[in-house]
Amino acid sequence: MPVKRGNAARVRTKALASDYTVSLHYDRRLYREDIAGSIAHARMLGRQGIISGDESKAIVGGLEKIRAEIESGKFLWRPELEDIHMNIEARLFDLIGDTAGKLHTARSRNDQVATDTRLYARARAEDTMRSLRGLQGTLLDCAEKNPSTLLPGYTHLQRAQPVLLAHHLLAYFEMFDRDARRFESARAAADVMPLGSGALAGLPYSIDRESVARELGFSAIASNSMDAVSDRDFLLDWLSAAAIAMMHVSRLAEEIVLWSSEEFGFVQLSDEYTTGSSIMPQKRNPDFAELARGKTGRVYGNLMAALTTLKGLPMTYNRDLQEDKERLFDTVDTLLPTLEITAGMLSGARFNEGRMRDAARRSYVLATDLADYLVRKGMPFREAHGVVADLTRTAMNRGKYLHDLSLADYRRASGLFAKDVLDINLEASIAARDTIGGTSPRRVADALKAARTRLKNARPREGGGLGAGDRSSTPASPPSGGEGG
Ligand code: ARG
Repeated sequence: MPVKRGNAARVRTKALASDYTVSLHYDRRLYREDIAGSIAHARMLGRQGIISGDESKAIVGGLEKIRAEIESGKFLWRPELEDIHMNIEARLFDLIGDTAGKLHTARSRNDQVATDTRLYARARAEDTMRSLRGLQGTLLDCAEKNPSTLLPGYTHLQRAQPVLLAHHLLAYFEMFDRDARRFESARAAADVMPLGSGALAGLPYSIDRESVARELGFSAIASNSMDAVSDRDFLLDWLSAAAIAMMHVSRLAEEIVLWSSEEFGFVQLSDEYTTGSSIMPQKRNPDFAELARGKTGRVYGNLMAALTTLKGLPMTYNRDLQEDKERLFDTVDTLLPTLEITAGMLSGARFNEGRMRDAARRSYVLATDLADYLVRKGMPFREAHGVVADLTRTAMNRGKYLHDLSLADYRRASGLFAKDVLDINLEASIAARDTIGGTSPRRVADALKAARTRLKNARPREGGGLGAGDRSSTPASPPSGGEGG
């Protein structure tokens, strides 16, 4: 038997349906890109005689006014109009009347939204590269400030061989360098213009895509209209570059958490980057490093969500694609502050040279050097390894370190040991690793210099473009009924 539904239920259903489809509360962040795209499109329509010159001018004027309204917080957002595109178009009708209806000639929201998102992704890739380069600069500052600080290098989190702190920090420089290059390539992936593809099949008007691309700063035009409206690979490139960068930040954060513990005591974070405990007054918790590590999960999640959204889509545009933007926005909002926080945390950090050296001294990190010593005297490495393993056991059993053993102890283990074995120390071990990419002071000094040059030459793009200053692009007043920016 059909259930009779009351009016209240129908109203509720309608509200639920509109809440379900609305994207305005997040896609209004694209207003700059949307307006720039529309202006370029309207100018082209005028130039091509598809609309008149006066109509084109009226549309462009209206759009500029709308941009000013949004930026001054005067724009009235209407969630019932679903998305940013419809909000701007509706306001254009208020401002210039029926001519507004001509803007959407030779265009679809499908090529429009893809264009907006690409413009946005491109600008944010530039911002990210700048932040990555900044973080790399901070790492170099830290390395240069601590040129001779040494610490145990670890494998399996076991003290392994001594290394220079600068060498350790330069390892992260390399990671972030690769990240910056990944963002350069994500930027290039976004730099292809879908506009002019129409809903999916191209357009029955004599449009001029080249001039629109030029005006929007795109270096290429999508070659297949069906691909153009449904392709979000550029977004996956962005999100995976972000996931990898966050993974690197997270590794660094993990080391900061470990190093700032009482157990390690290798680093002291400045007060701004630690928090106290409400009940344990002695605590200096590395919350920022922990959050950077923790937020990596959501960025991975954004990549997985986007991949999953895309995997089942038949050609071409499907409304599922609306789910792409929040994944990007959330990633931008996580990655960019994380990079800045990490740089700030590092530049205020004090590395405890004494604790690091002590950790290296109270260890067996010179065992490999002893084996190498025997190799230089002609013993095969495997045998030398065995001799030093025995020596290490002997020392451990006596509660001593290798450098506490006497020459007699060494000579009992192998007759190849002579007095100069006592010269093996942390500095000598480090200096000996003078191969390309090694930790010797000479190599590290060269690597530091080379890194500075690389960073200078990498000079980030001017950036910004249409989407400059993303943070200010969130309009002051939230859409009524929406959940704010
Ligand atoms: N809000 C939509 C999105 O983000 C805009 C495109 C809508 N197109 C459509 N055919 N319904 O994908």
